[in-house]
Amino acid sequence: MNVVVKPEFLSRHKERADSVLPKLLDVSLVAASDSMLELHSAMRYAVTNGGKRIRPTLSYATAKALGVPLDAVDVPACAIEMVHAYSLVHDDLPAMDNDDLRRGLPTCHKKFGEAMAILAGDALQALAFTVLSQHQDDRLSPTNKIHMIELLGQASGAAGMAVGQAIDLAAVGKKIPLGQLEEMHRHKTGMLIRASIMISTMIGAGPDADVTARLSRFANDIGLLFQIVDDILDVVSDTATLGKPQGADNALNKPTYPALLGLEGARKHAKMTHEQALEQLEGLDDGFDELRQISTFIIERTY
Ligand code: IPE
Ligand code: IPE
Ligand code: MG
Ligand code: MG
Ligand code: MG
Repeated sequence: MNVVVKPEFLSRHKERADSVLPKLLDVSLVAASDSMLELHSAMRYAVTNGGKRIRPTLSYATAKALGVPLDAVDVPACAIEMVHAYSLVHDDLPAMDNDDLRRGLPTCHKKFGEAMAILAGDALQALAFTVLSQHQDDRLSPTNKIHMIELLGQASGAAGMAVGQAIDLAAVGKKIPLGQLEEMHRHKTGMLIRASIMISTMIGAGPDADVTARLSRFANDIGLLFQIVDDILDVVSDTATLGKPQGADNALNKPTYPALLGLEGARKHAKMTHEQALEQLEGLDDGFDELRQISTFIIERTY
């Protein structure tokens, strides 16, 4: 049996994000009246109901590689995780993937109703930009803070996650060419993952142009890899392990890597993308090992 050894730093970075996120929510969501409580509860539910925290983990691993203190990336990393949490709430809505289970629990709309889930998603997205805008840190120049906000906006919106989701929905039931499927995955999932890595290059002086370009290519590769593996797990894993309904893509006739290339074809493509990701970091020192190991974790993960 193929035993997957999970590196210790993955749990450490996840715990860090798990402890920063509720604090950011608590200071931001000071309920002024009872009528706000339901919305705030839905937002907290969507963010603090588990999750692998792979995006903040990538920010922390990149910070480690670049010698940036982890606390300098807490807020930007967790702002991205808030956008991710919002994207899942909307992704699960009846108008999108119509899923009832997320992270082993009822989806946000199952628990709070559709309208409140839509609003919780909206508000989480706005909150992500608010916490990032209000963030003050000597290690983050005002110019780079603006660049970070711009990066998150691009990765989330009409040139990023949202357009990827639109392509996904428009492609339901169709057999799209591989190039288009790749574009869809790069947008709906890849760009937020890329942003998670790139924000850590914006703290302090940042790495030189060569390292920045390598990190950008690595980030693009593992962003694509992450969604190819998500597609594969939808076929081969089970609902209890995934914490979301297995077989959902097939049931909805979604365009996925296994649907287009077959399971073995999708696995080959994942392996190739993982190898390409590792090549981008070739020659860089041991400090980049956490990033290398995350790529391995992404391809070996079972959930
Ligand atoms: C699921 O993301 C949706 C995709 C973008 C593939 P994750 O697999 O990171 O979900 P959580 O945050 O761990 O629940
Ligand atoms: C979702 O892709 C990507 C997002 C932008 C949320 P999926 O629809 O495949 O994600 P899961 O499988 O429901 O987590
Ligand atoms: Mg979806
Ligand atoms: Mg979905
Ligand atoms: Mg999926």
